[in-house]
Amino acid sequence: MRTFSTPKEMQLFAKQLRKEGKVIGFVPTMGALHEGHLRLIRKARREADIVVVSIFVNPTQFDDPEDFARYPRTFDEDRYKLEMEGVQVLFAPGPDDMYPPGFSTFVEVKGLDRYMEGAYRPGHFRGVTTVVLKLFNIVMPHFAIFGLKDAQQYYIIKRMVEDLNLDLEVVPHETVREKDGLALSSRNRLLSPESRKQATAIYRALKLGKELIFSGERNPWKVKEEMLRFLKEEAPLGEVDYVEIAGVPDLQPVSEIEGKVLLAVAVRFPEARLIDNFILSPDDRLVWNERIN
Ligand code: PAJ
Repeated sequence: MRTFSTPKEMQLFAKQLRKEGKVIGFVPTMGALHEGHLRLIRKARREADIVVVSIFVNPTQFDDPEDFARYPRTFDEDRYKLEMEGVQVLFAPGPDDMYPPGFSTFVEVKGLDRYMEGAYRPGHFRGVTTVVLKLFNIVMPHFAIFGLKDAQQYYIIKRMVEDLNLDLEVVPHETVREKDGLALSSRNRLLSPESRKQATAIYRALKLGKELIFSGERNPWKVKEEMLRFLKEEAPLGEVDYVEIAGVPDLQPVSEIEGKVLLAVAVRFPEARLIDNFILSPDDRLVWNERIN
């Protein structure tokens, strides 16, 4: 596995690969790799000649310095996992490589960041879109894969790519879950055993919401209220940031459930804040991200 830590070296290598006619698939991450990341990487392996994975704990997307400090960093283990997956290129810059002194440019996707994660983590998506655009310019991929575990992030990046006419495909990947339904996350390893037990309530609350909607409930307030009640009872250690039902792909809260909607939850446990979602199309009785796989 070739490893690069400076944008210049990575970009030169990417240019060379393109000249050779190689298809570059890209999976950006913040490391602390788990099976969720690895599924994205395997999909990239199937569809690309060369897979580039980036590991960069991006300071500009953390609204809380403590969250940044506590974010798990397991670089040696990560490297080993990537080698085992047959990843050809690792891009692992440091903060000064990505944000040298004088750095002044930010990218913002307006409107889509108004609710849910955007509302509870001010500046978060501005940091995400800025670093992802930089990574796209450095890695020069033909396609990049993003997990629907972070559905709002996926739709925001898709919007950015369309709005800025970027020449690459943004490919979604469904949420990867533990056997009990908990969505895999780098932050799960921070949870106490008690919080870990209660965290399954998030998945069960989403299932409850789905069942209400599929049995005909079209009032989002009724669904949100039931889910909130359930979470309070089943996860007393958690503080619910939000339960939201938003339209897709505009991500604005709906006043009536119709078409395709994002059912999204964020819960703060003492050790970590967790998010999860289902994407539902009630008229076709379709649901994305529910499967335990
Ligand atoms: P990170 O949280 O490390 O996630 C990297 C990618 O893995 C994202 O696309 C995320 O949606 C996906 N992912 C994480 N857990 C998943 C799961 N359980 N199932 C499916 N996909 C999952 O998201 C980021 O990093 C950063 O914001 C980044 C895009 C790298 C920009 O800094």
